[in-house]
Amino acid sequence: MKICVIGCGAIGAAIAREMEHLSNIDTVYLTDRSQECATRLQQKLAKVSYVPDIVPILNDIGLVVEAASQDAARYYVPLALSAGVDVLIMSVGVLHDEEFQADTHRLAKRKGAKVHVPSGAVGGIDALSAARLDEMDEVLLTTTKPPSAFGKNQYLASKGVVPSEIRVRTELFEGSAREAVKHFPQNINVAATIALAGIGFDKTKIRIVCDPQVKTNEHHLQARGRFGELDVVTRNVPSPRNPKTSYLAAMSAISAIKKITGSFWIGA
Ligand SMILES: NC(=O)c1ccc[n+]([C@@H]2O[C@H](COP(=O)([O-])OP(=O)(O)OC[C@H]3O[C@@H](n4cnc5c(N)ncnc54)[C@H](O)[C@@H]3O)[C@@H](O)[C@H]2O)c1
Repeated sequence: MKICVIGCGAIGAAIAREMEHLSNIDTVYLTDRSQECATRLQQKLAKVSYVPDIVPILNDIGLVVEAASQDAARYYVPLALSAGVDVLIMSVGVLHDEEFQADTHRLAKRKGAKVHVPSGAVGGIDALSAARLDEMDEVLLTTTKPPSAFGKNQYLASKGVVPSEIRVRTELFEGSAREAVKHFPQNINVAATIALAGIGFDKTKIRIVCDPQVKTNEHHLQARGRFGELDVVTRNVPSPRNPKTSYLAAMSAISAIKKITGSFWIGA
């Protein structure tokens, strides 16, 4: 199969490198608004072929992998689906826009194409999406990060909070996933994936904690319902190429591509 990867950053480059070892993938078309980064990977990897525009190759591929940005998802997801090509979305935060989400569902259905959202940087998504088939009492995500992970955050600034001055474990936010996505855009992907897999953006509760003692980005997912209880902690090591991205997110994208293009699917 031929696939196309949008973005050659921490996640896209890891995908391109891993595809070299997958026998059922013969070509990885790669595009990025930075031509330099894409052509550099093309020189190093035998299966990679840089394309400045994906329109001419849409009839030739089985999957478009978006690993770039929400802007890229807004452009490439409808483009691929309109051509009947399946997509895998990493910038899943884009789906908090209900109009975009509804348009994506409609287009995929009309064209008979599939939209895949990997579990990304958080564990327990498989169990949560099964559990939500019956009544759920609560879905809560507690995300704990070191001060450096918050960078410049307008919401915190408006509250007079300076993360670099925090010396003890401090709760910075508690509210719905919809509000979390608005106030903490850097946390948007995990909150969005949990909201989509579970009970939606308004009912999913998010707690955001800053802890100067932690070195990892920790996501603690708790859910209660008729199925019983779920309690999953993921402590993420940052990706060496992009400290904002967890290493697990890149591995999750690769694992998803293996499932989609392979013949054996564990944890479906
Ligand atoms: N689902 C998850 O759990 C999860 C976890 C981490 C990151 N992400 C998301 O995945 C995406 C990629 O992450 P990353 O760490 O690889 O980012 P990165 O910044 O390392 O790389 C992104 C690459 O995409 C390119 N790009 C951005 N917008 C583009 C556009 N409109 N057209 C073409 N190229 C474009 C950039 O030039 C860059 O090379 C981000 O949106 C990030 O938020 C998702």
